[in-house]
Amino acid sequence: MNSHRQPVDFSSDTQMQTSFTCNTLSNVMAAEITGLDLARATSSDMVRIQQLFLKHHLLVVRRQTLNDADIERFAAWFGPLEVNQVKNADGGVLAPVHSIANVDAEGKPSQSPLLQSNYNWHSDKSYLPQPSLMTMLHGLEIPPAGGDTQFANMELAWQDLPEDKKQFIAGLRVVQSFEHMLDKLGQRAIIDAALIPPPVEHPLVRTHPETGRKSLFVGMYSSKIIGMKQDEAERLIAELLAHATQEKYTFTQKWQHLDFVFWDNRSLVHRAIPNYEMAAHRRILRRCVVRGGVPQ
Ligand code: OGA
Ligand code: MN
Repeated sequence: MNSHRQPVDFSSDTQMQTSFTCNTLSNVMAAEITGLDLARATSSDMVRIQQLFLKHHLLVVRRQTLNDADIERFAAWFGPLEVNQVKNADGGVLAPVHSIANVDAEGKPSQSPLLQSNYNWHSDKSYLPQPSLMTMLHGLEIPPAGGDTQFANMELAWQDLPEDKKQFIAGLRVVQSFEHMLDKLGQRAIIDAALIPPPVEHPLVRTHPETGRKSLFVGMYSSKIIGMKQDEAERLIAELLAHATQEKYTFTQKWQHLDFVFWDNRSLVHRAIPNYEMAAHRRILRRCVVRGGVPQ
């Protein structure tokens, strides 16, 4: 955690010395912020944003004009920026602030974007020893219809499990594997073989380091459960993910031009929805990710 970051009381929405407006978007997660230029956010704004982030898990700040340096500065307030190993459409490794886009090397919209993995439920970089804390996306080019991003609240999903199931899974450890995803989706091309990170073990039920809330930590990278037969493990992973991603736990971000969205990967999973004409329209989001700690 950054040294300038104060412990926060996430239950109160401190409006002191800030002028922006925050509206809740659903009772599952998400709030919308208007009347704020993030490039000029004051430290009081940032403290309030941090409280709102922990309370709502996902914030949408409308109509932001931000360059890469602005995005980096905002991200760095929350922690170290993630370095990348995955490749761009032009074959280069992604920079700390990079684009996520359905375009080919010439910039034309493409029916089969390089990153297929985003269409499956995941928490960013959950296959690393220190998975992502926060992901930011800035909507630079949005298709005229669709191109949504969907999120599921893994804390609510955990809370609603029957007591016996909670007890059964509480101490389990799950293997999260980048290679498992590559093989499942036929995505070897997105990374050089030598850079594939080795699988890691994480708690299946993790505790949020700042709020103390528990959540399910499963998604498309989950490949095994320690001490469990493979077929049983696969059944349990599929069952938990199906439970957690029921509509009642989800929120769908319907992009507006220049939305700046950021979410907590420690409590949410997400996926892109291919509900737009990919071959006809470009969808370009500028992206930056903050690294988190070791899940406990
Ligand atoms: C991501 C991601 C989904 C989208 O940026 O990590 O999964 O809708 N994006 O592009
Ligand atoms: Mn993602």
